[in-house]
Amino acid sequence: MTEGHDSRLFATEKGKGMVAYRLYATSVLVSTFLIWWYRATHVPSIGEKGRWLWIGISLAEIYIGLYWIVSQFLRLNPIYRHAFPERLSQRYSDKQLPGVDVFVCTADPTSEPPSMVISTVLSVMAYNYPSEKLNVYLSDDAGSVLTFYALWEASKFAKVWVPFCRKHTIEPRSPAAYFSNIHSVPDTCSTKEWYYVKELYENMVIRINTVVKKGKVPEEVLANNNGFSKWNEEMTPKDHPSIVQILVDGKGYDAVEKDGVALPTLVYVAREKRPGQHHNFKAGAMNSLIRVSSVISNSPIILNVDCDMYSNNSECIRETLCLLLDEEQGQNIAFVQYPQDFENNNCYDIYGNSLTVNMALDFPGVDGWGGTPYIGTGCFHRREVLCGRPYSKDYRENWAKGVVRISDETILDMEERAKSLATCTCELNTEWGNGIGLKYGYPVEDVVTGLQIQCRGWKSAYCYPKRAAFLGLAPTTLEQCLVQYKRWGEGNLQIFLSKYNAFLVGHRKLRFGHIMCYYLYGLWATTCFPTWYYVVIPSLCFLQGISLFPKVSHINCF
Ligand SMILES: *[C@@H]1O[C@H](CO)[C@@H](O)[C@H](O)[C@H]1NC(C)=O
Repeated sequence: MTEGHDSRLFATEKGKGMVAYRLYATSVLVSTFLIWWYRATHVPSIGEKGRWLWIGISLAEIYIGLYWIVSQFLRLNPIYRHAFPERLSQRYSDKQLPGVDVFVCTADPTSEPPSMVISTVLSVMAYNYPSEKLNVYLSDDAGSVLTFYALWEASKFAKVWVPFCRKHTIEPRSPAAYFSNIHSVPDTCSTKEWYYVKELYENMVIRINTVVKKGKVPEEVLANNNGFSKWNEEMTPKDHPSIVQILVDGKGYDAVEKDGVALPTLVYVAREKRPGQHHNFKAGAMNSLIRVSSVISNSPIILNVDCDMYSNNSECIRETLCLLLDEEQGQNIAFVQYPQDFENNNCYDIYGNSLTVNMALDFPGVDGWGGTPYIGTGCFHRREVLCGRPYSKDYRENWAKGVVRISDETILDMEERAKSLATCTCELNTEWGNGIGLKYGYPVEDVVTGLQIQCRGWKSAYCYPKRAAFLGLAPTTLEQCLVQYKRWGEGNLQIFLSKYNAFLVGHRKLRFGHIMCYYLYGLWATTCFPTWYYVVIPSLCFLQGISLFPKVSHINCF
């Protein structure tokens, strides 16, 4: 890599130690062939004990061997990307940077406590990015007044928190994470100020938790704030009209600007739910957000994060833009995926939750073939591509795009317009959920969506920085892990068996190795059968005195 005349916004490096790895992989491959050969040439003859068991274990070994071969497509060509955010700031002034809409999705105030949700919201509001270009949307699929109350509290606290973070370059910018891990006051900050912010935050969390526990917002808050009047007794999580409320208007209509503190726009969205109308889970929520945001900010870039994944790096937007804005290498990148990192892993990690193999090895490997899958969180998309634009070589994104406000339109008018885009009926007879937005009808809708985008000719990029960009919560009990793994295994298998099988949709569009990467995940669930056979049958045979393996003394097997 030569510095100096180098004007690239990001660099791509190949994985290290590939020669050694290839030698190792070749030796495993040769050994696998030898085992197959041994199995094929030593089948017990008809009538002999254990003939069928032998054939069974041979099939298991063939399957495991083939699956291993498929997995090698992810290992042969890993690439790692490094962004140069300093060059971005040299080339683009803050005014020229594109707008970014951040979508945070939550679905249930019981399993996803509102105090955690707002910490995530606050962490993305505090990104080191021009406030007028940043818009944060919280999608509350439970339509819960408790979540709205928490967000309303957060919108007030943000007026202190966001300037505080920027002034003292606080990291991480989730107040929950910051105050629970860091006990020292930064040099630039007076002790008084620091404790003031800490206390403000802690009192807010106490208020929110009390309200959540009671299940009711205090009367005086209800009486003094119009925002709460949209809820009434009859509304349930499964039956309510659409609600869109702009809590902070970062475009300057709000009082915030007058205090000299610009904040990002903050919007609460609960799409309409009616019994008997299918809501399509998170994909439905995301698609509603795409439409709602199109009348409020319409930023060309969309970041989506789960409500339990806070931003751990306030420079993340700028680093991502390096990948998307690079004139030479970035034009064909549709989305930039970040790994799922977790803050609650201990060093034993007995359930393999940290996904290290997937995140550190597999995904850079898929990136080498031209496209990491979209995994539903920690991902930056181009809005246009998510809405169905096919790749064309000559297309140049208009980064300055955004909503031009109609001059006499009030915030209320805008909310009304947005509300009509979050109803149950607005998707009827449209391509939403099919060619536009996230795909409906699959449990891992994100993966199908990413695959569709890649089949339209786009590439995607994977960013694996040393310092985690987003930190989430991993499941902690065996039960939660099994539910999670089952959903992934089942979901990917369902895609494999559907018309979105990577080969059916991707041949002639994706490279063969890339298809194999999708197959690795698609077939993951099916490896349970040979694994199960391998674990159970040989031990049972042992009790019966049947041996399925050569004896140690039996050196000359061939
Ligand atoms: C999260 O960010 C902090 C800096 O604020 C860093 O020290 C830490 O290593 C990061 N966490 C991970 C898991 O990378």
